[in-house]
Formats: sequence, structure tokens, C-alpha cells
Amino acid sequence: MIDLHFHCFPGIDDGPESWEAAVALCRAAAAEGTKTIVATPHVLRDPWLNEDPAVRDQMLLKLNTLLGGTPAVLAGCEVWFTGDLVELAEKGEAGPLTRLNRQGYLLVEFAPGHVPQSAEAAFHELVLLGVTPVVAHPERNLVLARDAERLASLVERGAVAQVTAASLLGELGRPAMVACEEFFRRGLVHLVASDAHSMEKRPPRLKAARERVRKSWGAEAEEALFVSNPKAVVEGKPLGWPV
Ligand SMILES: [Fe+2]
Repeated sequence: MIDLHFHCFPGIDDGPESWEAAVALCRAAAAEGTKTIVATPHVLRDPWLNEDPAVRDQMLLKLNTLLGGTPAVLAGCEVWFTGDLVELAEKGEAGPLTRLNRQGYLLVEFAPGHVPQSAEAAFHELVLLGVTPVVAHPERNLVLARDAERLASLVERGAVAQVTAASLLGELGRPAMVACEEFFRRGLVHLVASDAHSMEKRPPRLKAARERVRKSWGAEAEEALFVSNPKAVVEGKPLGWPV
């Protein structure tokens, strides 16, 4: 499996606090079948600005050295939605943002209680730039969780949605799980990732989430969400599901 949303750099956000904890978290993911992780530290989320991609690249190199290839960790980030997101994306690799495996997908999070009115226009602009916005955990956003139509409106602009494994399992509260189920019914779930932070706070739970998807929505959804769609994201190719 490929885990596209994972906080594994120590001390730069609310992820692991030490290199030892970071390595343990990545190895726990590998132990349940995750061969590849995309490192997605918070970027431009106060107080975790992490604006310098060179610093993150150094951490990526060190983590991969410590892990010895199991799992492999790829570059990425989770950017906080701001009014200048399009401008930042236009800077490409010269700016603070790192797309998932430096391909065409950019992981974007909204404040938990808000989706700005400018989001649709910004996403449209991103798509015109060749960047596909990935909405991080829409089920944990109060606006999107209550109004799947709003998520549908973002998806119509070309965005894709990533739900969190623990949400699907009911571990982040019933409203988040119910929202995931509603998104599934409407064909608005494209990716499942762990959003792992630490073994205590949020461990990797992809294996259990995969079992839940197979039982609830069948083998085709399971294969797409845990194998083919994440692979397409790291390769920068279009998603094949839902069609
Ligand atoms: Fe995250």
C-alpha cells in the first residue's frame, strides 16, 4: 500500500517528537503492509510554517537513511488553504509547496470549521496550472461534513478527496464516520490515507480501513482506494476510479 498523507518529520509540526518516534511510526506502517509513504508535514499552518522546502528535503534524506528503504518515504506537504495558494503554486519548486512525490497532486487542508468562498475559484485556477488539489480529510471539516454538496462542488472543479483511515473506522467520532459514508454514497471519495501523527495520537490504520472498505463497499472500491488511485497519484497520472 501507499500512504499519501503522513506526518513523519520530527519536531516540525504536531507529528512525531523525535527521530526514534518517527522511525517507529514509519515501521509500524510498513508492518501493516505500507511500502511507500508520502511525507506531508504541515506547511503555512501557523505555528508550523515550514516554508523552506530545502529543510524538509534534508529531513526526508535523513529519514530514508534511517529506515533503509522500508518503507520508502517520498516528498510532499500538506498546505493550509490561504488566499494566495494559486500564487504559491505558480512558483512551483521555487516556492514553499511540495506536490505529492513532486508530481501533479497537491494536498490541501481547510481550517476545521470553514471553507472559504474563494475555494472553488482557487481550485479551478490550480487545475488550469496542471495541479490537482487533494482535499485532506473533508469528513473532519464541519462545513463539508454537513454539506456533501459543497464537497461535490469542489470535486466538480477538479479536486479529489482524501478521507482519513481512522475516520472510516469511527475512531475520530461518529460524525466523521457518517460523513465518510455519505461521501462514499455520492462517489466523492478518491483516496484513503492514515494522516498518521504518532503511535499515541494517530497511528497508521490503513490495513483496518482497507478491510472496512472491502466489507462495506466491495473489492473494486478497495482496490481503487488502496492500490490503483494512490499509485496514480505518486506517478502523477489521472485517477481511474470512480469513473
Ligand atoms: Fe495531516
